[in-house]
Amino acid sequence: MRRGEGAALRLDGAGSELEEIEIKLLLEGIQLAYGYDFREYALNPLRRGIFAEMARERVSTVSAYQDRLLHDAACMQRFLGTVGVNVTSMFRDPELMLAVREEVVPLLRTYPSSRVWVAGCATGEEVYGFAILLEDEGVLDRCSIYATDFNEDMLAVARMGSYPLERIRRYEDAYRTSGGRGSLADHYSVAGRSARFDRRLARSVTWAKHNLATDGSFNDFHLIVCANVLIYFRESLQERAHRLIYDSLIRGGFLALGKRESLVSRPDRDHYEQARDGVNLFRKTRW
Ligand SMILES: C[S@@+](CC[C@H](N)C(=O)[O-])C[C@H]1O[C@@H](n2cnc3c(N)ncnc32)[C@H](O)[C@@H]1O
Repeated sequence: MRRGEGAALRLDGAGSELEEIEIKLLLEGIQLAYGYDFREYALNPLRRGIFAEMARERVSTVSAYQDRLLHDAACMQRFLGTVGVNVTSMFRDPELMLAVREEVVPLLRTYPSSRVWVAGCATGEEVYGFAILLEDEGVLDRCSIYATDFNEDMLAVARMGSYPLERIRRYEDAYRTSGGRGSLADHYSVAGRSARFDRRLARSVTWAKHNLATDGSFNDFHLIVCANVLIYFRESLQERAHRLIYDSLIRGGFLALGKRESLVSRPDRDHYEQARDGVNLFRKTRW
C-alpha cells in the first residue's frame, strides 16, 4: 500500500508510517497549542494512551482526534490524565519508605529546616504518606514539602486530601511495613465513605504545577522523591529530568526513585551512591 492510500490509523492497527506521522503532528500540535511537550515520552505507553483516549472520544483516526483535542481544552485535560498515567497509592514501596526513615531522617534532624520535593505527585497519596512519616519522626514541623505535578486536576484532588475510605484502609499494612508508628487511621478523620487527612499534615505542603519536561529546577532540596514518572520518558528526556533533579539536590541530599527505576545505567550514576542495597534510594556525593 502506498502512503496515504486508505492507510488511516485504525484503533486495532499496528504502528504504520502514517500513524507515526499523525502522532508526531498530534504532539507538535499539543506543544504549540497547550505548551505540554510529549515528544520525548516513551512511544508505547504514549500510543496506548492516545488509543485509549481515541476510543473514549469515539474517533477512529489520530488526525480526527487531533482536531478535537486542539479545539477542546477539556479533551486535552482528559489526555493529560491518561497519557500522564496518574495511577498512584500510599506507601507504594514500603521498603523505600523505611529506608527514608532510617537513612534520610537522621540527616533532616541535623538541619533547623529542610526541604523535600515530591515530583509527579499525582493525586497526593504519596505526599500524605511522606508527611505522615515525617510527623511520626517528629520532623514535619521543620520540613517544607513541595509537591508538584504537571496536571492541575491531580493537584486539585491532592489539595482536598480526601480519598475513598475503603482504599485508604487497605494501606494499613504497607504503612506498618514502612516503619509506621501506631495506626494510619490516627492521621485521618472519617466523613461518610471518605477519609480526610488531618490538615496539620498539609500545613507543610506547597502544591504547585511543574513540568519536568519543560520547567526549570528548584534549589537546595535534602530529599527528592520522583517515583514512577521517569519510566514514561525516553532516554533524552530522562537525562533532562535527572539533570534538573541533580541540580536541585544539596550535596549529601537523597533521591528516591520508583521500584522499576534505577540509576544503574545512567552516566551520572557516579555522582550518587546507593544508600541501601535493594532499595532505590541514592545519595548525591558530588557537585
Ligand atoms: C504513575 S504516576 C506516579 C505518581 C506517584 N509518584 C507514585 O509513584 O505513585 C505519574 C505522575 O507523573 C505525572 N507526570 C507525567 N509527566 C510529567 C511531567 N512531564 N512533569 C511532571 N509530572 C508529570 C502525571 O501527571 C502523574 O501524576
